[in-house]
Amino acid sequence: MARRNIFLIGFMGSGKTTVADHLGNMFNMEIAEMDQIIAKRQNMSISDIFATHGEDYFRNLETELLIEMQSKDGMIISCGGGTPMRDNNVEEMKKSGKIVLLKASPKTIYERVKENHDRPLLEHNKNVPYIAELMEQRREKYEKAADFIIETDNKDIRQICEEIRNKL
Ligand code: S3P
Repeated sequence: MARRNIFLIGFMGSGKTTVADHLGNMFNMEIAEMDQIIAKRQNMSISDIFATHGEDYFRNLETELLIEMQSKDGMIISCGGGTPMRDNNVEEMKKSGKIVLLKASPKTIYERVKENHDRPLLEHNKNVPYIAELMEQRREKYEKAADFIIETDNKDIRQICEEIRNKL
């Protein structure tokens, strides 16, 4: 029987990659990290893709990759933070699996992203008010896409993954 995919969505730094790794071990499922796959295929960092080709080019690569994922099942897919902003991307995800939204406060996000330099949308905006504003702009689409929402603040990775298991 085909196993459905699990899509992890959420703001940059919400913990999608870490949660995907842990869930992969827990369920013995394969993991796909969209940013990593795109960067590897383009042979460029995400920042360089944005700088060289622009954001739209990157967004189109995300959409193509999601469509490609339709042929897979039983995977945990860690999406880019902007992936659910396109309605057609959400439709593609819904065709093959469940969508889990990971949430964290702007302060938590800031702490997690402050040393990172491969997030072009935050590179010159690394501060809590900016993160809060962008998060608010995205909130409706994120919540609408999600089959369920996991609050991650003050929880450890095991608690987060247990919660996901119970809700799936
Ligand atoms: C983006 C999030 C990033 C990456 C790109 C754009 C966004 O992924 O796809 O920098 O628009 O939120 P992470 O959420 O894995 O940082």
